[in-house]
Amino acid sequence: MAYLQTDVTKVTTRVLQNMKHNGEKIAMLTAYDYSMAALLDSAGIDVILVGDSAANVMQGHKTTLPITLDEMIVYASSVVRAVKRAFVVVDMPFGTYQGNSKLALASAIRIMKETGADAVKLEGGEEVQESISRILSAGIPVMGHLGLTPQSINKFGSYAVRATGSEEAEQLLHNAHLLEQTGCFAMVLEKIPARLASQVAQEVSIPVIGIGAGGDVDGQVLVLQDMLGITQQFKPRFLRLYATLGESVCHAVQQYIGDVKNKDFPNDQEQY
Ligand code: KIV
Repeated sequence: MAYLQTDVTKVTTRVLQNMKHNGEKIAMLTAYDYSMAALLDSAGIDVILVGDSAANVMQGHKTTLPITLDEMIVYASSVVRAVKRAFVVVDMPFGTYQGNSKLALASAIRIMKETGADAVKLEGGEEVQESISRILSAGIPVMGHLGLTPQSINKFGSYAVRATGSEEAEQLLHNAHLLEQTGCFAMVLEKIPARLASQVAQEVSIPVIGIGAGGDVDGQVLVLQDMLGITQQFKPRFLRLYATLGESVCHAVQQYIGDVKNKDFPNDQEQY
């Protein structure tokens, strides 16, 4: 009998590889703070991504480009302090690994040393292969990220689905194999046709985690604030809402305001 990986005390790269091998889907979500990470971990999430989407949902930037390494380290170390079981991956922010593999290694080492995370993630294929190799040479596990890579938004010009044409699809397949050969332990595929994502997941031996990439991959990732309904006005087709916390929070805050204004809070039992 194959045991579900909920039995493991700590998720590792080997556990994730076994999950792919056994056909058990990998559940991954983002988190950026201690409290949420503790909830995700106790709920049994397999992987927590401290994504550079923190630039959007935590800091209010339009793109992920402005977030800094120092800021990512603060978010990531808060998450790591909360986690007992989940595998924690930290996004390398824009400008900390592209075009300079020595800088890439130095950035990755800072992340691992100062946060205690399990791995780093970076965006791109061939163009960042040297950076990936150098990070791996220090024994740091690397997760790749292909398809819609938000740090390249200024090159793409939009957040539309990627690799719909045959040339870009071929390029993506080539890069997926390259990430595997270079030694990445897993990769994210973002917003690409489901059929292409499925082909990648079948052709490479490492786990493929999709976001907007269909169900025929090895796992799924969503941004926590999006799936909990905290993010307002972001409703892409791939997103399933699992809660409407935005509405709940507004409702609770309105009740509190009313209670304070009406001198209903605190009552006799709520004071010393
Ligand atoms: O930063 C992020 O949240 C991500 C996921 C969307 C995969 O990279």
